[in-house]
Amino acid sequence: MEKIILTGDRPTGRLHVGHYVGSLRRRVELQNSGEYDKIFIMIADAQALTDNFDNPEKVRQNIIEVALDYLSCGLDPAKSTLFVQSQISELCELTNYYMNLVTVSRLQRNPTVKSEIKMRDFATSIPVGFFTYPISQASDITAFKATTVPVGEDQLPMIEQTREIVRKFNSIYDEVLVEPEVLLPENEACMRLPGIDGKQKMSKSLGNCIYLSDSEEEVRAKVMEMYTDPLHIKVSDPGHIEGNTVFTYLDAFSKPEHFEEYLPEYANLEELKDHYKRGGLGDVKIKKFLNAVLQEELSPIRAKRAEYEKDIPAVYETLRKGSEVAREVAAQTLSDVKRAMKIDYFEDQELIQAQSEKYQQ
Ligand code: TRP
Repeated sequence: MEKIILTGDRPTGRLHVGHYVGSLRRRVELQNSGEYDKIFIMIADAQALTDNFDNPEKVRQNIIEVALDYLSCGLDPAKSTLFVQSQISELCELTNYYMNLVTVSRLQRNPTVKSEIKMRDFATSIPVGFFTYPISQASDITAFKATTVPVGEDQLPMIEQTREIVRKFNSIYDEVLVEPEVLLPENEACMRLPGIDGKQKMSKSLGNCIYLSDSEEEVRAKVMEMYTDPLHIKVSDPGHIEGNTVFTYLDAFSKPEHFEEYLPEYANLEELKDHYKRGGLGDVKIKKFLNAVLQEELSPIRAKRAEYEKDIPAVYETLRKGSEVAREVAAQTLSDVKRAMKIDYFEDQELIQAQSEKYQQ
């Protein structure tokens, strides 16, 4: 069986380092590993509209931001198909048919939907489009017959819902759809990178993000104001690692080579953590180290972005071409789905023949 990746992001803002360690970095590695037959990366604008329907300009403006972030991280249109969800109308058709296979109570039990409803204060006025977006996400994944979906942990319930739809479809109709596997980030820190204020998640509204497109100076300033251990007042005080944002970021970003280069007194992160816990290690020193590590990772991305920014029409063209390719693939799946569901009347000569015979007796 072919190995196929599909994943994507909602275009509601520029991408930040949480997206990077949570999924982007991995996608680029998978792309370059050569182990996958096809890779589809989708800008999920239709999904973004499910809770931003009253702000279409925000979604429109962020298509190019996300595309630039993708390209600057190393997603390569020669190896990965980059496309825009709304341009693939076949996805809506699939969603329509999958809706028959999902109950309202199952959607109500979807933990991601549940927590998002709470977060967005929808209370009793939940838009149907938002409520059913897990079904639309199942269409995104199955349209490309994806075997692997690299996403953050918050997306697990979506993949589970997709797997259920696939099983139900295949058992009722025909073995057409592929059950996808999820690929989670490499460690806890990558899974849940907190904002610079130490709050749960990076979010634009909290103003606690480090963006991939931030300047060198912006990144430095954000690292310097990062939340650490409020009980670590004097350098000599013993410090805590748990919940200390700087260490969480080091868990996500640092490699042994970084120590050799920027902090040779320590062999690795464990030694640095031990010293911090014992006391005698100041926050500024680890922040400077984290800044060096982040700059090393982000500066090539920044430089690449500057190159792509010089030719914006070419970036739109990349998305347009990618959407064309994606559309062909989705159309093939839709045709398989319709045949399995017996709604392919005009392509089915046997049906026409049989009906004809019935009436010619
Ligand atoms: N729900 C994902 C997010 O919020 C975006 C997305 C839409 C997606 N369709 C997808 C991710 C299909 C993986 C597969 O980030």
